[in-house]
Amino acid sequence: HWTEEEKKMICEMWSKVDVGETGAEALGTLLVVYPWTQRFFAHFGNLSSATAICGNPKVRAHGKKVLISFSEAIKNLDNIKKTFANLSELHCDKLHVDPENFKLLGDVLIVVMASHFGKDFTPAYHAVYHKLVRVVAHALALRYH
Ligand code: HEM
Repeated sequence: HWTEEEKKMICEMWSKVDVGETGAEALGTLLVVYPWTQRFFAHFGNLSSATAICGNPKVRAHGKKVLISFSEAIKNLDNIKKTFANLSELHCDKLHVDPENFKLLGDVLIVVMASHFGKDFTPAYHAVYHKLVRVVAHALALRYH
């Protein structure tokens, strides 16, 4: 369900993303802006303030991990459901994450990318990335269906 143009736009923009920094910022922002998501990460240590969250090395490392799995999705755009089958099992069956939170993380990722890329993150890129993060969120939630 991707056009060649969409695939090209996704891959071109992603090649400029610093997965470590962007992932750390995206997960940190999720935990600050939607504090109920902290419940899943209580074992990561100090999440007592925005400064603590954004400097927390476990949050940063985990954010990078999450974006590395976005990279896997981007390498397998025609096969995202299969690529995320194991992660869906983990998040649904074991962690019981409400799938609404998958959408929130995707939306935060777009905000972080827009703030890094500025005017290069045009409405057309925004639209195609919005589609991508929704496809990823849907694939992660499949075990609930
Ligand atoms: C673990 C990806 C969203 C909670 C993981 C792992 C990956 C991942 C790759 C590591 C799995 C492993 O170690 O085998 C993603 C992706 C998301 C997403 C691509 C995109 C939307 C979320 C959300 C939450 C969440 C929204 C909660 C609000 C967790 C937790 C773990 C985890 C608690 C285990 C952390 C640990 O103890 O190390 N996720 N995740 N994830 N994820 Fe997600």
